[in-house]
Amino acid sequence: MFFQLFAPFYDGFIKFVKVDHSGKIPGWLAPVCGMDVLDLGGGTGINAAALAGAGARVTLVDSSRGMLKRAAAKRLAVRLVLADAASLPLHDGTFDIVLVSDAWHHFRDQAGVVREVARVLRPGGRLCIIDFDPCSKVTKTIALLERMAAEPSKFTLPDKLVEMLHRAGIEGAYCHLQSYQYVYIGVKKIV
Ligand SMILES: C[S@@+](CC[C@H](N)C(=O)[O-])C[C@H]1O[C@@H](n2cnc3c(N)ncnc32)[C@H](O)[C@@H]1O
Repeated sequence: MFFQLFAPFYDGFIKFVKVDHSGKIPGWLAPVCGMDVLDLGGGTGINAAALAGAGARVTLVDSSRGMLKRAAAKRLAVRLVLADAASLPLHDGTFDIVLVSDAWHHFRDQAGVVREVARVLRPGGRLCIIDFDPCSKVTKTIALLERMAAEPSKFTLPDKLVEMLHRAGIEGAYCHLQSYQYVYIGVKKIV
């Protein structure tokens, strides 16, 4: 419901608060040209547009019709799928890259999402999660504001995220972009 109402203002808000990493993401994930990329919780397609522009075949999954409607209005060369990240209507081993940008803390069933990401990634495929560090004051403020907007968030310590994904067969590490935001990059083990 929150994103349904927020959708018309989302792109403007992201520009205003300057947390748009879309210009950098294709470089962080290089090479992306010719890759099958899943943008999970991809919203209005800000990052999907950048990845498609860099030559990736992008599938954007989101559970909000309002956010997908905004993405559709941009007429991007991106496949749009309405689905819950914890129950993906997608085949096993389909993607070279999965991106979760500013969506992880919104996922209610995070264990289910980890299971699904590990399933749809190809062996050797890469996972990138950009999210907020629960230790920072900025994140605590975001958590409060989201709770006030009836959007409960579940922020994860980056070390805990590394451990959760390791247990699912994805090996990775993280670094901080700022004190309050980190980027995790992992690779699905080839067995
Ligand atoms: C803050 S927005 C981020 C959008 C985009 N990734 C970006 O960086 O601009 C979070 C998105 O996650 C989506 N979302 C939340 N829970 C979800 C779920 N369980 N499955 C799929 N998408 C979900 C929301 O609808 C929303 O579009």
